[in-house]
Amino acid sequence: MRRQLWLVPAFCAAVWISAAAASNNPQQSSTAPQSASLLSGGTQYAETDVCKTCHQEIWEKHFALTPHSALLKHDQHGCQACHGPGQAHVDGGGDPTKIIRFETLSPAQTAAICSKCHEANLEVQNFSKSEHLTNGVTCTNCHDPHNSTDVNFMLVKTQTVLCYSCHSAQRAEFARPFRHRVDIGLVQCSDCHNPHGTETGGQVRTAAGQFAVCTKCHTDTMGPFVFEHAPVKTDESCLSCHTPHGSTNPRLLQVNNVNFLCLRCHTPNMNGAAPGIPSFHTQSAKYQACTMCHTQIHGSNFDPYFFR
Ligand code: HEC
Ligand code: HEC
Ligand code: HEC
Ligand code: HEC
Ligand code: HEC
Ligand code: HEC
Ligand code: HEC
Ligand code: HEC
Ligand code: HEC
Ligand code: HEC
Repeated sequence: MRRQLWLVPAFCAAVWISAAAASNNPQQSSTAPQSASLLSGGTQYAETDVCKTCHQEIWEKHFALTPHSALLKHDQHGCQACHGPGQAHVDGGGDPTKIIRFETLSPAQTAAICSKCHEANLEVQNFSKSEHLTNGVTCTNCHDPHNSTDVNFMLVKTQTVLCYSCHSAQRAEFARPFRHRVDIGLVQCSDCHNPHGTETGGQVRTAAGQFAVCTKCHTDTMGPFVFEHAPVKTDESCLSCHTPHGSTNPRLLQVNNVNFLCLRCHTPNMNGAAPGIPSFHTQSAKYQACTMCHTQIHGSNFDPYFFR
C-alpha cells in the first residue's frame, strides 16, 4: 500500500495518512491516486490573494460568491484550504503538477480533504463507511464547489436529477401510479435517506422509535395506541405492508388486494402471532374489503379490532 505524506503542516499530514489508509479499499484502487511527488511538491502556502492574479474568473465568479468564501478569513488560506499549499505552483508559473487537482485523486483522498472541515457536521460524519464511498462515489460526484448552479448545498445538479443519474431503477419506481412525489419536490430522497451514510442499512435516516423515518411525516400512524396492531411495531414496521418509493397498488401497498395482504399473516399456521380470521368472515365480497370494517389499521385507542 502506497503511503503519501503531505509533510507540512502537521494536521494536513494527518489527513493525508488517513486518506491513504481509507483508499486501501480494493474497490477504489482502480482510480489512480495522485503521485507522491506531486503531493510533496507543495508544502508551503502562498499568499492567499496571489491565486486571484492568475485565476481571476474562478476567484470572482466561482469562489467569492460561494459559501467557501468563508475560507478567506482567519488564515484559512482560501483556495489552498482545498488545493493544498500552493507556493511551488506559483513559483513554477502555474505548474499544474504542483497543485492538488481533484480529478487525479482517489475517492477516499477527495473525501479526506473535504472531511477535514466537514466531518464534525452530524449530517456528513458517517461518510467514510457509507455505501457511497465504499462503492467509489465521493463528495465531488454530488457537490461542485465552483460550478454548481443549484444554490442548495452546491449540488452538481438538483437533487432528484442527481440521484436518478445513477439510480435509474428508482426513477422507474417513482414513475409508478402511486408514489411519493419526489419529481415535484413534495418529498425528497434526502427526507428518507442520508446520502452521506447512516448507522443503519440502506442509508435510511432513522431517529429514535420504529420507522421514525416515516412517522416524522405520517404522525397519525405512530401511536402509541391503546390497541397496537403488532406488525406496525416490528423492525420491518411500515415495510411489512407498504413499499417506500412507489407501487402499482393504491396506498403504496405491497399487494393489489387488501384481502391478500391481511391473509399473509391472518391465516392459521401462517404466522404464529396473528390469529386467523373468524369463521363468519366468509370470502364473500363484503368480507374481502377488510379495511371497510377494520378502519384504524395502524392501531386504535378505542377498539381492539381497530373498528374505530
Ligand atoms: C502565475 C500565475 C498563477 C498563479 C499565481 C496561480 N496559478 Fe494556478 N494555474 C496557473 C496556470 C497557468 C495553470 C495551468 C492551466 C492549464 O494548464 O489549464 C494553473 C493551474 C491550476 C490548477 C489546476 C487546474 C486544472 O486544470 O485542473 C489549480 C487547481 C490551480 N491552478 C490552483 C491555483 C491556486 C490555489 C493558486 C493560489 C495558490 C494558484 N493556482 C495560483 C497559473 C497560476
Ligand atoms: C472547497 C474546496 C475548494 C476550494 C476552496 C477551491 N477549490 Fe478549486 N476545485 C475544487 C474541486 C473539488 C475541484 C474539481 C471540480 C470537479 O471535479 O468538478 C476544483 C477545481 C479547480 C480548478 C480546475 C477546474 C476548473 O473549474 O477550472 C481550478 C483552476 C481551481 N479549482 C482553482 C481554484 C481557485 C483559484 C480557488 C480559489 C479562488 C479554488 N479553486 C478554491 C475545490 C475547491
Ligand atoms: C478548510 C475547510 C473546508 C474544506 C476543506 C471544505 N469545506 Fe466546505 N465549507 C467550509 C465552510 C467554512 C463552509 C461555509 C460555512 C458552512 O456552511 O458551514 C462550507 C460549506 C460547504 C457546503 C455548503 C453547506 C450548506 O449548508 O450550504 C458544502 C456542500 C460543502 N462545503 C462541501 C464541501 C466539499 C465537497 C469539499 C471538498 C471538495 C469541501 N466542502 C471542503 C469549509 C470547508
Ligand atoms: C451521493 C451524493 C452526495 C455525496 C457523495 C456527498 N453529498 Fe453532501 N449532500 C448531498 C445532498 C443531496 C445534500 C443535501 C441534503 C439535504 O437536502 O438535506 C448534501 C448536503 C451536504 C452538506 C450540508 C449538510 C447540512 O445540512 O448541514 C454538506 C456540508 C455536505 N453535503 C458535504 C459533503 C461532503 C464533505 C462530502 C464528502 C465527504 C459529501 N457531502 C458527499 C449529496 C451528497
Ligand atoms: C418515503 C421515504 C423514501 C424516499 C422519499 C426515498 N426512499 Fe429510497 N428507500 C426508502 C426505504 C425505507 C428503503 C428500504 C431500505 C431497506 O430495505 O433497508 C429505500 C431503499 C432505497 C435503495 C436501495 C435499493 C432498494 O430499492 O431497496 C436505493 C438505491 C434508494 N432507496 C434510493 C432512493 C432515491 C434515489 C430516492 C429519490 C429519488 C429515494 N430512494 C427516495 C425510503 C425512501
Ligand atoms: C455517481 C453515482 C451516484 C449518485 C450521484 C448517487 N448514488 Fe446512491 N449509490 C451509488 C452506488 C454505486 C451505490 C452502491 C451500489 C448500490 O447499492 O447501487 C449507491 C447506494 C445508494 C443507497 C444504498 C443502497 C443500498 O442498497 O444500501 C442509497 C439509499 C442511495 N445510494 C441513495 C442515493 C441518493 C438519495 C442520491 C442523491 C442524493 C444518490 N444515491 C446519488 C451511486 C450513486
Ligand atoms: C417528508 C415527508 C414524508 C415522509 C418522510 C414519508 N412520507 Fe409518505 N407521504 C408523504 C406525502 C406528502 C404523501 C402524499 C403524497 C401525494 O399526495 O402525492 C405521502 C403518501 C404516503 C402514502 C399513500 C397515502 C395515500 O393516501 O395514498 C403512504 C402509504 C405513505 N406515504 C407511506 C410512507 C412510508 C411507509 C414512509 C417511510 C418509508 C413514508 N411514507 C415517509 C410524505 C412523507
Ligand atoms: C399491517 C399492514 C400495515 C402496516 C404495518 C402499516 N400500514 Fe399503512 N396502511 C395499511 C393499509 C391496509 C392501508 C389502507 C387503508 C385503507 O385503504 O383505508 C394503509 C394506509 C396508510 C396510509 C394512507 C392514509 C391512511 O392513514 O389511511 C398511510 C399514510 C400509511 N398507511 C402509512 C403507514 C406508515 C407510516 C406505517 C409505519 C409506521 C404503516 N403505514 C404501517 C396497512 C399497513
Ligand atoms: C405482517 C403480519 C400481519 C399483517 C400483514 C396483518 N396483520 Fe393483523 N395482526 C398481526 C399480529 C401479529 C396481530 C396481533 C395478534 C395479537 O396481539 O394477539 C394482529 C392483530 C390484528 C387484529 C386484532 C386481533 C385481536 O384479536 O386482537 C385485527 C383485527 C387485525 N390484525 C386485522 C388485520 C387486517 C384487517 C389486516 C390487513 C389490512 C392485517 N391485520 C394485516 C399481524 C398482521
Ligand atoms: C363487515 C365487517 C368486517 C369485515 C369486512 C372484516 N371483518 Fe374482521 N372482524 C369483524 C368483526 C365483527 C370481528 C369480531 C369482533 C369481535 O369478536 O368482537 C372481526 C374480527 C377479526 C379478527 C380478530 C380474530 C380473533 O380471533 O381475534 C381478525 C384477525 C379479522 N377480523 C381480520 C379480518 C380480515 C383479514 C378481513 C379481510 C379479509 C376482515 N377481518 C374483514 C368484522 C369485519
